[in-house]
Amino acid sequence: MIKIDSITKTFASQTVLDSVNLEIEDGQKVLIIGQNGAGKSTLMKAILGELICDTGTITINGIDPTKDRKKALEFLSFVPQTPPPLKLRVDELCEYSIKSSGSNLSDIKAYLKDLELDYDKEAKKPFYKLSGGMKQKVLIAIALARKSNTIMFDEPTANLDPEARDRFLELLNAKFKDKTIIFISHRISEVKGIVTKVVEMDLGKIVNERRIENE
Ligand SMILES: Nc1ncnc2c1ncn2[C@@H]1O[C@H](COP(=O)(O)OP(=O)(O)OP(=O)(O)O)[C@@H](O)[C@H]1O
Ligand SMILES: [Mg+2]
Repeated sequence: MIKIDSITKTFASQTVLDSVNLEIEDGQKVLIIGQNGAGKSTLMKAILGELICDTGTITINGIDPTKDRKKALEFLSFVPQTPPPLKLRVDELCEYSIKSSGSNLSDIKAYLKDLELDYDKEAKKPFYKLSGGMKQKVLIAIALARKSNTIMFDEPTANLDPEARDRFLELLNAKFKDKTIIFISHRISEVKGIVTKVVEMDLGKIVNERRIENE
């Protein structure tokens, strides 16, 4: 369970997270929406312990990610909004994730196949030379293969073509029903049928929270 209790973060004079409270139960599928600059990615960074807030607390299964980041990250997988410009080859990046998280290459390859990316063809390329959509597929497959119980996706399908988007959702529906999933997306239609809760942010605040009935 993720508990966000009254967090506030100010950069210079701009309050980018303003008394944010949110509870995410195990197995919930949450969609965070809101305009550009609303604070969605900043909230993800706070959950990951990358950002120290001015006030408030966050716990992930009872662990404060700013105090014990390594332990908190055992529970979390993350696909960032902007893929990092890594010089590592694709196979080296996978190897790094496997070593640090206990995942395995056959799972990564299987998820890449589901997303229609041929691992063997791309394995020796430096990650930064892949196309935008291919980078997202690699990061999604690596995140899905980790054994964490929560996966966070920041605009994961922004660079995917429509077929790959469909395959991504089919994959989540088929194999990840039990996991806690947090999406940030501007396209609600993309995650329709999966999300159980929509959280709307505006100017650093949560302005609306509603549950969605699926099935
Ligand atoms: N390190 C930082 N220093 C200064 N300002 C920051 C920093 N990180 C985020 N901000 C500001 O916080 C605000 C929220 O940014 P954030 O990236 O969280 O928005 P977002 O909701 O993810 O938007 P988008 O839909 O465009 O991705 C923006 O005004 C941004 O400039
Ligand atoms: Mg963002």
